[in-house]
Amino acid sequence: MSASDRNSNLRAVNLPADWSPTSWRERTALQLPSYPDAADLESALQELRQLPPLVTSWEILSLKQQLAEAQEGKRFLLQGGDCAESFDQCSSDVISNRLKVLLQMSLVLVHGMRKPVVRVGRFAGQYAKPRSADTETIDGVTLPSYRGDMVNAPAFNEAARRPDPRRMIKGHARSAMTMNFVRALIDGGFADLHHPEYWNLSWVGHSPLADEYRRMVNAIGDAVRFMETLSGSEVHNLNRVDFYTSHEALLLPYEESMTRQVPRHWGHFNLSTHYPWIGMRTAAVDGAHAEYFRGIRNPIALKVGPSVTPDQLLRTIDLLNPEDEPGRLTFIHRMGATAVAEKLPPLLDAMRRDGRRVLWVCDPMHGNTESTSNGYKTRRFRNIRAEIETSFELHAAAGTRLGGVHLELTGEDVTECLGGARELTESDLERAYRSTVDPRLNYEQALEVAMLIVRKQAQIAAPA
Ligand code: PEP
Ligand code: CO
Repeated sequence: MSASDRNSNLRAVNLPADWSPTSWRERTALQLPSYPDAADLESALQELRQLPPLVTSWEILSLKQQLAEAQEGKRFLLQGGDCAESFDQCSSDVISNRLKVLLQMSLVLVHGMRKPVVRVGRFAGQYAKPRSADTETIDGVTLPSYRGDMVNAPAFNEAARRPDPRRMIKGHARSAMTMNFVRALIDGGFADLHHPEYWNLSWVGHSPLADEYRRMVNAIGDAVRFMETLSGSEVHNLNRVDFYTSHEALLLPYEESMTRQVPRHWGHFNLSTHYPWIGMRTAAVDGAHAEYFRGIRNPIALKVGPSVTPDQLLRTIDLLNPEDEPGRLTFIHRMGATAVAEKLPPLLDAMRRDGRRVLWVCDPMHGNTESTSNGYKTRRFRNIRAEIETSFELHAAAGTRLGGVHLELTGEDVTECLGGARELTESDLERAYRSTVDPRLNYEQALEVAMLIVRKQAQIAAPA
């Protein structure tokens, strides 16, 4: 048992006495579908309660330990994946390509920042989405909004949009398949540093960033061979990495059904994912989501948007991490490139003045969404870059630390975000825009983000 686990086991005495996996039901729950038939819902939940978990408590506690290290600046968090997974995209190529991008980015970060990376995918459960309106009207017809594949289907007709509780069971199965394939790849040596070529995507060779990436891979290969020559044997532990999962724990009936007690540990764990987060629209401190999250032992994250006040943030910590447990709470700020310099510093100052500690992470995607004249929802690479770079500077100025990034990306060769090394333009969006929800960085743009993080962090650490 690790020191932090022993430590957190001592906390059992402080278990919130008035909490249970169902106590969220007494609060206002935003963004939940209204299921037409309560008996159908209950029967689906009953089935889910019997199904095996997707992750284990010891993986959850080891991630919490790694996040505690990230909070102290000893690691950097890379969290990324689709805005929304979809049931038909649960395929071997989509899963392995996404894993390849995350592995390549983490290699760039480890090499450039000289510290280990905590790798977390937005996958194996990212199937429920908050929406700005409950309904959508097209040509005079009004139907419930699409809320992610775990709730309903995107097609605009009544049957597709009706919330169906059986979709939670399918979502659990798709998550298990994704998880199973990721685990098999990692255990089979897919992440082996002796073979970074396993992670090459077919179009890498033509990328404007290819030379820089290849030089880095060669340098790492030389270092590994040097160590092996010196020690006369293969350097072990280079052939596998830890990989964790996360999703927005929006659909509380599902999350409740996956909330379990396990032998030899006190309290409850959400065993549908390692690292659930609360989205910006459901982050109210007196709301149902905060109530649910307060009682689980997972490391948890909360999105922090531009309208959050310092006082709200401090009350959120009182509720979600009253004992200041390291690694327990992450704040993911997503202000937008134009608002971040005004909105973030008051929050950082209040936290520092009050001696509160969390892991700070920047999501440079969700505050930078816009629509183009030809009707695409997109994000400009230069705004994404500006929000990351400004965030590093603001944390340095406030005496806090930016400990990670949260990105929407894919290993597919899509054209959804504008700009980047290949300078995608509005007309390029028509070529390969595939997201049904938010625009994602493609492989190249994601790698470029990793490279710019390394450069910015070095500049902050050693100002010219
Ligand atoms: C998301 O991460 O896909 C999302 C909806 O983010 P936010 O809650 O920050 O808007
Ligand atoms: Co999104």
